[in-house]
Amino acid sequence: MPRRQWSDLTPHTRAIVARETGDIIEAEDLAAGSVTDIATVLTTAHGQIFVKGVDTRTASPRAVRGHCREATLNAVLPADRVPRLYWTIESDGWLLHGYDRVPGRHADLRPGSPDITSVLVALDDLTHALTPAPAEALAFSRRWADRIAPEAVAGDTLIHTDLTPRNLLVHREHTWFVDWTEPCTGAAWIPYAFLIIRLIRSGHTPEAAERAVARAEAWQRASPAALTLFAAAAADLWHGWHRTIGASHHLPLARAADSWSEYRADSG
Ligand SMILES: Nc1ncnc2c1ncn2[C@@H]1O[C@H](COP(=O)(O)OP(=O)(O)O)[C@@H](O)[C@H]1O
Ligand SMILES: [Mg+2]
Repeated sequence: MPRRQWSDLTPHTRAIVARETGDIIEAEDLAAGSVTDIATVLTTAHGQIFVKGVDTRTASPRAVRGHCREATLNAVLPADRVPRLYWTIESDGWLLHGYDRVPGRHADLRPGSPDITSVLVALDDLTHALTPAPAEALAFSRRWADRIAPEAVAGDTLIHTDLTPRNLLVHREHTWFVDWTEPCTGAAWIPYAFLIIRLIRSGHTPEAAERAVARAEAWQRASPAALTLFAAAAADLWHGWHRTIGASHHLPLARAADSWSEYRADSG
């Protein structure tokens, strides 16, 4: 379903939001993103707020649950890496969350981009802050129960499982992580492994992508065999989505994961 607009909300709901934010001077709807129904930056006299939300009358139960989970989790996520939640509003069928609007643009993961260092420094921080996991979440081994042996991905880190560049906001040298609707607990290296696939998709060779993350402690502790299984499982996952859903990013991600998987099989 295409993204909805701020102006689609009823005047009543917009007035309830304004009670929290103060007078709204401008509302800018964002085009990027995937699951949330509304993503709008509100400018008020007191600053800017990022509003995301779902229309609970039409959204999938999974999307609604994801938004609730993201809001509940916010308090335990590190405040210097994840925008703070200010308020939750339920009105006229909508569930809306108001977050601190952080500056930044989507990370550029192409070879040579300075964003890569910034993202990795941030991911090291995040991993440190979220080990052991400060809250419960679905075990990654359960999410991938039919894809990978549970012991290969077991761990006690709270992990972000969707490190698309659109969920990485880079401002100068600082990276923020947004979009915590599908967190898991699992091995600390899992986000690095997802990032490798994104790096390959952005033009790195598998070798260069592995070199980029090689200094990370969590990565160094990963079992090479588990990484090889992970690469093959991720390729299989995205090929499956390409066949069944067919969004434009599925096949490029499947191919990136294929090339990582082949590289690991050849060098292993
Ligand atoms: N706190 C925030 N401040 C500024 N921009 C944000 C913030 N959170 C998300 N965004 C932007 O909004 C987009 C959509 O939000 P996101 O939480 O990723 O939802 P979804 O991917 O479901 O659309 C992000 O890709 C990012 O560009
Ligand atoms: Mg997103």
